[in-house]
Amino acid sequence: MAYPNRHEHRYHFRDRPFRAPCTSVKPKCPGSPREVRFRSRPVRRDKIAPMALGSSDGSPNILPEAPRFPDRPDLTSGDVHVVRICLDVPIAGATQLLDDDERRRASRFVFERDRRRFTIAHAWVRILLGRCLAQTPESLRFVVGPYGKPAVAEAPIDLRFNLSHAGERAFVALALGRDVGVDIDEERPLDVLELANRFFAPAESAALRGMPPSEQTRAFFRCWTRKEAFIKALRLGLSFPLRQFEVSMTDDDSAQLLRSCSAAPNMLGCWQIAQLASESGHAAALAATAGNWRVVRWETPRWPPSATRRAEPSDGLLAIADR
Ligand SMILES: CC(C)(COP(=O)(O)OP(=O)(O)OC[C@H]1O[C@@H](n2cnc3c(N)ncnc32)[C@H](O)[C@@H]1OP(=O)(O)O)[C@@H](O)C(=O)NCCC(=O)NCCS
Repeated sequence: MAYPNRHEHRYHFRDRPFRAPCTSVKPKCPGSPREVRFRSRPVRRDKIAPMALGSSDGSPNILPEAPRFPDRPDLTSGDVHVVRICLDVPIAGATQLLDDDERRRASRFVFERDRRRFTIAHAWVRILLGRCLAQTPESLRFVVGPYGKPAVAEAPIDLRFNLSHAGERAFVALALGRDVGVDIDEERPLDVLELANRFFAPAESAALRGMPPSEQTRAFFRCWTRKEAFIKALRLGLSFPLRQFEVSMTDDDSAQLLRSCSAAPNMLGCWQIAQLASESGHAAALAATAGNWRVVRWETPRWPPSATRRAEPSDGLLAIADR
């Protein structure tokens, strides 16, 4: 009931084209967000397979491991916390963490794989929020905004979050008193020029056309995820016209909002966008209200607690799964 026609929306939007630009406009944000990783652990070579995907040029692309999200996170610095989730790592008892509405939504998926991804993603959202709020995951209740963005109901602190999932990966962004939007997408062959023509701002579309064909698909998804992160931070989703604002397209850390539209002319200094590191074949971005915040990266376990690896307390989920 809380999510009328959401699946129809998703499949419809996923089939749409997207695309991007590049202009000489300089960043307007007060200090572009820095991305930090805390206490990165050494990566065990026998364990990196799920993330050690080849890059498009054939070279290995191993995403550095980020630490596990703490049991009692400190969000008071004002930073934006981004947790990357491996949806192919099971959580025992995940379904029991969800509420009736989430279980109903999960049951509507035709394929078990999609049901499992949805269930794991929502279980993780509850676990992460529960840690921030010192509440049990299953006790959390959500309210859904007019355009579908969920928020924690009756939260004791002003904790805001956003979820995005694509294939076996998801990102959750969390921040105190700051609107956040996150988006991840799998790069795949599409008619990106046509999509850009329809959905990107004219300058974004032109910039994409000006790129070498071999770079266009990646640039398209880079731009698309930045734009989606932004409209998700605004809480408006795809009801906000994608053609009426521009983001940068370059493949570096200078993700930014370049120009906003007549419908919302004063947004430039108010929002910051950051590109998120993701493994080869994915693009991801974060948007949040402007400020001197950093992206603080975390991740969930990359592989199941199998015989090859001893469970560690910081794996967190294991404790929940075992209850
Ligand atoms: C939000 C939206 C941009 C996400 O598209 P997507 O790339 O297919 O999906 P993502 O995985 O990145 O994000 C989905 C998550 O974003 C969140 N979300 C939903 N609506 C949102 C909104 N308006 N703003 C921000 N986040 C939103 C939800 O947590 C959702 O997860 P769930 O479907 O598992 O519950 C798109 O679905 C949209 O615009 N929906 C709006 C639909 C609408 O207007 N509904 C009104 C009646 S409910």
